[in-house]
Amino acid sequence: MERLVIKGGVPLKGKVKISGAKNAALPCIAATILCPGRHVISNVPRLRDVNTILEMVGTLGCDFQWEGETVSINTDRLMSYECPYELVRTMRASILLLGPLLVREGRAKISLPGGCAIGARPVNLHLKALSQMGAQMHLDRGYIFARAERLKGAEIFFDIPTVTGTENVMMAAVLAEGKTLIRNAAKEPEIVDLARFLRSMGAQISGDGTDTIVVEGVRELRAGSISIIPDRIETGTYMLAGAITQGEVEIYSCIPEHVNALVEKLRETGIEVSVGEEMIRVRGSNEISAVDVITMPYPGFPTDLQAQYMALMSIARGSCVIEETIFENRFIHVAELQRMGAKIEVNGNKAYVRGQKRLLAAPVMATDLRASASLILAGLVAQGGYTEVHRIYHLDRGYENIEKKLSDLGAILWREKV
Ligand code: EPZ
Repeated sequence: MERLVIKGGVPLKGKVKISGAKNAALPCIAATILCPGRHVISNVPRLRDVNTILEMVGTLGCDFQWEGETVSINTDRLMSYECPYELVRTMRASILLLGPLLVREGRAKISLPGGCAIGARPVNLHLKALSQMGAQMHLDRGYIFARAERLKGAEIFFDIPTVTGTENVMMAAVLAEGKTLIRNAAKEPEIVDLARFLRSMGAQISGDGTDTIVVEGVRELRAGSISIIPDRIETGTYMLAGAITQGEVEIYSCIPEHVNALVEKLRETGIEVSVGEEMIRVRGSNEISAVDVITMPYPGFPTDLQAQYMALMSIARGSCVIEETIFENRFIHVAELQRMGAKIEVNGNKAYVRGQKRLLAAPVMATDLRASASLILAGLVAQGGYTEVHRIYHLDRGYENIEKKLSDLGAILWREKV
């Protein structure tokens, strides 16, 4: 096990480059299964989750090769249609292989992803939609068994705009017979990136980025290529790092529009945010006002930045309410922030935060990917010693080179074995 040790109090200054988006890379890598050929995906972040899904497509019989930030995946040979529990349990996003395997092999055996720290994470909407497209599904001892000769286009309505559910149906629909309509589709930028990759493979998709996506099934696809968009959650995390340390951070190789909700929210708190073509500059101030936030599907305030924003509100002037509407258990970081002196009360899906003058360094425990980022932000500003963030394997799932990127901005932190 490893921990990150942080000496707080240094205002971060300088420039930081954003890596490719984890949640765009994962569905694109899954989509390569749809057809044989040599697919090329660039600007791929070197992350634990990316390694996991590459390992998974490897166990299915494909070959992959890294060259810098580009990974080429040869999917000519597919020797299995099973995704074992051992791999799936380490990364829920493995459910993204269900649609592609069903299309390519006509069958799939995938372990149910199971829940995680932030919630039960059901996949009922994925299964319901694929059944509507003609897949025969049944669950047995923790596995999804699915079969389909050739999927048929259907009109799908998602009760909830599920991100990976929308992605699974898009991938299932591209070679289906006829047209598929996805209503109440998720609109995240990662959905648009997957559609871009599928179009590079010859798919006919329109409406991605809106709540209605139309897919015209085609007879065959070819190997695709794409350069993955920058990671909007990493972008937001470094914006908050500049704000909380009252520094001046320039985030480049990002897409400001993808973090509009946070840009506006930070401006409301009194933080100076200037936006360029592919750059955002954040200048922290010692007058941060507490401002309420409600997490919503894109383009609303992202649930994946809720924990990080809560760290900032812990030292703001005044009180605010942070409402989490996406996941039922995404306040686990609260107890850890309280150990550092934050004054937060949780009631249902609302957290009431009373800003304090300071946070105090303490040993804390990361519980999920974004909670660990929240604890690091708190550690960057905590006083009175060293903050130790334990179980940082969570962090390595979603933040590429975070120690180096923060150290290059002047932060005093290091990783050590426990
Ligand atoms: C994606 O998860 C992201 N993961 C999550 O990022 C992100 O937090 C989430 O979308 C919301 O933006 C990837 O893209 C790999 P959902 P996903 O299906 O697709 C309920 C991170 O930190 N639901 O949009 O699993 C679900 O319980 C991760 O990078 C069902 O009820 O999220 C949740 O309440 C964490 N049935 C809501 O919908 C279903 O079949 C939204 O979930 C599917 C979802």
